[in-house]
Amino acid sequence: MRAAVAGLLLGGAVLLAAYYVYLPLPGTVSEPWRLMLLDAAFRAAQQTCKLVHYLGLSHHLRVLNFVIGSFDKLNFRSSEHVKITDTLFDGVEVRVYEPLAQEEERLKRSVVYIHGGGWAVSSARGSVYNNLCLVMAESLDAVVVSIEYRLIPEVHFPVPFNDVFRATKHFMLPDVLAQYSVDPNRIAISGDSAGGNLAAAVCQEMSQEENVTNRFKLQALIYPVLQAFDFNTPSYQQNEITAVLSRSRMVQFWLEYFNGNSSFAPSMIINNHTALDVTEASPFRELVDWTFLLPSRFRKSYKPVVHKVGTAEIIRDIPELLDVRASPLLAEKAVLHVQPKTYILTCEIDVLRDEGLMYAKRLEKAGVEVTVDHFEDCFHGCMIFTLWPTLFSAGLRTRDSYIKWLNENL
Ligand SMILES: *[C@@H]1O[C@H](CO)[C@@H](O)[C@H](O)[C@H]1NC(C)=O
Ligand SMILES: *[C@@H]1O[C@H](CO)[C@@H](O)[C@H](O)[C@H]1NC(C)=O
Ligand SMILES: *[C@@H]1O[C@H](CO)[C@@H](O)[C@H](O)[C@H]1NC(C)=O
Repeated sequence: MRAAVAGLLLGGAVLLAAYYVYLPLPGTVSEPWRLMLLDAAFRAAQQTCKLVHYLGLSHHLRVLNFVIGSFDKLNFRSSEHVKITDTLFDGVEVRVYEPLAQEEERLKRSVVYIHGGGWAVSSARGSVYNNLCLVMAESLDAVVVSIEYRLIPEVHFPVPFNDVFRATKHFMLPDVLAQYSVDPNRIAISGDSAGGNLAAAVCQEMSQEENVTNRFKLQALIYPVLQAFDFNTPSYQQNEITAVLSRSRMVQFWLEYFNGNSSFAPSMIINNHTALDVTEASPFRELVDWTFLLPSRFRKSYKPVVHKVGTAEIIRDIPELLDVRASPLLAEKAVLHVQPKTYILTCEIDVLRDEGLMYAKRLEKAGVEVTVDHFEDCFHGCMIFTLWPTLFSAGLRTRDSYIKWLNENL
C-alpha cells in the first residue's frame, strides 16, 4: 500500500516535471530535448526571481542578472595570444581584446561588440561574451571592444543607447584608434539580440554625426531587436510561446526598457498601441508592413493584426516606443541609405525573425548591400550557447558562419 502511494506520488512528480519541461517545438529544431531543458531551467530561474520580487526582497531583473552572472563564471578562458584590458571610454566601461603583435607590425581590423540580454542581463565580462570576443579576436586577428553599458533596472532608455554611443564615438577618435593600432577603414559594429538593437541604433546615429572622421565599414546584427510597433508579425504569431524568448517576455523587456507600466502588456500584445486611431503611429505603419516587406515563405498564412480602435494612452505615456534609437526599423529611407554593408543573422524559431528580415529588405531597397544568414533549425539566443553545460550545435554553427562573414568582409 505504502509502495503504491509512493509510486503514485513519484509518477505524479515525473508527470509534473515532464509537463513543466515539455514545450511544443517545431519538428525542424535541432537538439529539441536539450533546448526544452535549457528553457525549463531559464523559466524556473525567472519564476524564482519573480517570487523574490513579489516578496519585496529585490527587483526580479537584478536577481536574474545575479543568477545568470553566477553561471556565467563557469567557463573562464584566457588566451596567451590576446591581451585583455578593462578600461573606460569617455566614462563608459569597456573590455578591449588585443591580439598580440605578429612579427610584422600592421594596423588591425576591429569589431565593436555589444552583448545581448534584454538590456537587463549578462555582461561583457561574463564567460559567455568573454569567450565569444576572445574567439573573434583570435580568429579575425582583430581588436575587439566589448561595451559594458549600464543595464535596467538601474537605468532605462536612452541610457544604454547613450553609453554605447559615447564609448563607440570615443573609440573612433583618430588618436584612440592609433593607440590600439586599428585600421580606421576596417571597423565593424556588431551585437546580438538587445545588443543588435543597440548596434543598429548606434550605427544609424554615427552615420548622422557631423563631426566624425571615421565611420563603420560593416554592421553585423545577430537576431536583433528592431521594433516595438507590431507584436503580431508572422514570427511573433508562430513563436508566441517558444524556447528562450516568448512574445510576452519580449513585450515585458520593452516595457522595462522604457520603465513603462506593465499593465500595458496585454494591450500591446494585440497591437492596441498602434491601432489605426493612434495617429502618432500612422507615419511608421508602412515601414513595418510585412505584407510586402517579407517574402511569402515567411509570411506563410498569417494575417496582420490591425485594430480600428485601440489604446491611444500607451504611446502618449511611452512615446519612446516610436523612437528610432529604440526601434531602428522605423528609420527613414535617407538614414538607411547611408548605412554600411550589413549582415543579419536570423533564426526560424525566434519571435524577432521578421524584424531582422524586414530591416534587411528596407536596407536593400535603400541601396545597402545586405547578407541575410537564415538558420531554419535554430532558436533565439543560440549563438551564445557554445560552452558546457549549454553547448548547442546551433551555437557553434551560427557563430562560425558569423565569424566567416566578418573575416571575408571586414
Ligand atoms: C563640429 O565641429 C565644428 C568645428 O570644430 C564646431 O564648430 C561644431 O559645433 C561641431 N558640430 C557638432 C554638431 O558638434
Ligand atoms: C499602471 O496602470 C494601472 C492601470 O491603468 C494603474 O492602476 C497603476 O496605478 C499604474 N501604475 C503606475 C506605476 O503608474
Ligand atoms: C484594445 O482596445 C479596445 C478599444 O479601446 C478595448 O476595448 C480593448 O479592451 C483593448 N484590449 C486590451 C487587451 O487592452
